[in-house]
Amino acid sequence: MNAASRYARITGTGSFLPPRRLTNADMVSLLAERGLETSDEWIVERTGIRARHFVEDGVNASDLALQAARQALQAAGREASEIDLIIVATSTPDMVFPSTATILQHKLGAAGCPAFDLQAVCSGFVYALSVADSMIRAGTASKALVVGAEVFSRILDFKDRTTCVLFGDGAGAVVLEASDTPGILATELHADGSHVGILCVPGTVAGGQVLGDPLLKMDGQAVFKLAVGVLEGVARSVLAKAGRTEADVDWLIPHQANIRIMQSTARKLKLDPSRLVVTVDQHGNTSAASVPLALDHAVRSGQVRRGDTVMLEGVGGGFTWGAVLLDY
Ligand code: ACO
Repeated sequence: MNAASRYARITGTGSFLPPRRLTNADMVSLLAERGLETSDEWIVERTGIRARHFVEDGVNASDLALQAARQALQAAGREASEIDLIIVATSTPDMVFPSTATILQHKLGAAGCPAFDLQAVCSGFVYALSVADSMIRAGTASKALVVGAEVFSRILDFKDRTTCVLFGDGAGAVVLEASDTPGILATELHADGSHVGILCVPGTVAGGQVLGDPLLKMDGQAVFKLAVGVLEGVARSVLAKAGRTEADVDWLIPHQANIRIMQSTARKLKLDPSRLVVTVDQHGNTSAASVPLALDHAVRSGQVRRGDTVMLEGVGGGFTWGAVLLDY
């Protein structure tokens, strides 16, 4: 395979949701214990979310990543020992260091290949896929495991009803392999740090203590407005880069945060609503895990088939956003 015709192609997908499932009715009870009101109607109408999954104590991002990774490896027909690059996108790592990717590597029973975390919040998986694509096309890797894994339940403020009903835990993974046919057609990544304050966990660790606030803060309306704008823009530019048009997109798999943001993006791109993959109703916003979770669901349910053109889109804290256009 010469460099000019070296591409990266997804050969297997996997995902995992922890067993503890909380419906909106469960969240109503949980918040009531804290003297706060919410309702199934409010949550469904504003976000499309009906349920989310939370880990039990002692379960970490690497545990969810492991289950998703095993499924993706099995789907690709690969052993962990064959993988030569591991990237885990997460904002809720097991430890400050070492990376969740090295912990995952060890749990998979592998050693030797490079493994690192990538932190771009809800755009993390799209960022990680783009980095793995570049490394495969450059010839520095040939079989990559790319994972998004999050335990956002650990950083939720259950006294803030405007945020705690929105997020959940989970993991999704793909095996990405060198191929002489695409594969990934084009990728595009962006960030604008001037918006740090609208979505953040403003804590840090110093002297063995947490300094500041270790819980998620979000200005929902500011995030909503930014997300709608950037998702349309990055979709158009990644299509132009690949020499494709909106009409070529068989499936749109945006970050699963809010059904209204997702539907608005599909409308602006003039995509039929049936082309939009929606799983946010079943797991809420799982940050970097949301896009690979939705992709795996779409593959296993028979929606996305070999040869289909798929647009993946991420948007999240930073502010960060990006897109990957691929032939599955
Ligand atoms: N239950 C009931 N009422 C609520 C709740 C709740 N859980 N939360 C807020 N409310 C109330 C508010 O107090 C407010 O009441 P008021 O009018 O009496 O003051 C009312 O509902 C409306 O609140 P808004 O914040 O204006 O609601 P909005 O329509 O903007 O919806 C939401 C809020 C769902 C958060 C929306 O802004 C949104 O989805 N934003 C984008 C979020 C997002 O996509 N985040 C992920 C980005 S990815 C990442 O990086 C993590």
